[in-house]
Amino acid sequence: MGIQRIESVMYGVDDLDQCVRFFTDFGLDLVERDRVRATFETLVGQTLHLHTVPDRFLPEPVEPSPTIREVVWGVDTPSELEALVRKAGADRPVTVTEDGVHHVVDETGFGLGLALARPRELPERAPRSANTSGSVRRWNAPLESVGRVRPLRMCHVALNIPKAGQEVAVAFYTERLGFRPTDIVKPMGTFLQCEGDDDQHNFLLCHRPDRAGHNHVSFEVPGFDDVVEGGNHMIAQGWQEARRLGRHTVGSNVFRFLHAPCGGRVELAADMDRVDASYGTRVHETTPPHHIWTLRGSRDTAS
Ligand SMILES: [Fe+2]
Repeated sequence: MGIQRIESVMYGVDDLDQCVRFFTDFGLDLVERDRVRATFETLVGQTLHLHTVPDRFLPEPVEPSPTIREVVWGVDTPSELEALVRKAGADRPVTVTEDGVHHVVDETGFGLGLALARPRELPERAPRSANTSGSVRRWNAPLESVGRVRPLRMCHVALNIPKAGQEVAVAFYTERLGFRPTDIVKPMGTFLQCEGDDDQHNFLLCHRPDRAGHNHVSFEVPGFDDVVEGGNHMIAQGWQEARRLGRHTVGSNVFRFLHAPCGGRVELAADMDRVDASYGTRVHETTPPHHIWTLRGSRDTAS
């Protein structure tokens, strides 16, 4: 089938202690830590690496540190991996490391890895039942806080690319790595789905800021309450919200964004559209509204 999911992301960071505190507060599991690096895991076994001295095989960062240095995509079979590595590396060097990751550099200069996916089953969890007149699902069961929010998985990565050459940057992923464009927003960017997943997008190449850089990594949480409570927890720990609660137009997910000390932002996301091949590629000549709604209060002066 091909690429199944984000397998890992690597950040080059300045303040390791601060970044470790951020992702601990965010609800990821710290699995390794030494003086210069740390590794966290999501519940499905994806890894998030923080390095103060990034590995030598990585390209120069596309923007000043701290920022993302590499996204590794997980592939389902050795033969698929071999075929993808051959295509990705047709005109550029490939470095293979002990952990089985094949590293190349994409058209923008971002590190890109390919490796066998190591999926871990999610623990069983029944979704929260909701009540509405005409469809009562929850009897004699008052709700409580969701408790400590634990992101299920990294569901998408968004990278900024320059406008010039954007078609070539996108084509690298569509023609060599099997990504399918789900929504092409001509003034803004291309939303891409990897072959083995059904989220409306797993990857966004955004050319609106017209420069290379990290935009955000999104983490799926089980539901709306987790988005709200997870964001509240981070704010209580002193972290800064980057965008107020809302629901996106493209992808439909509920979102909450936080500034991340590793560069860019992280998103808490729930209830994203799932789409299959019948969704096609939707081409937008103008940019749809960013959101269906965002939280507003009576004391807000700006929209
Ligand atoms: Fe997002």
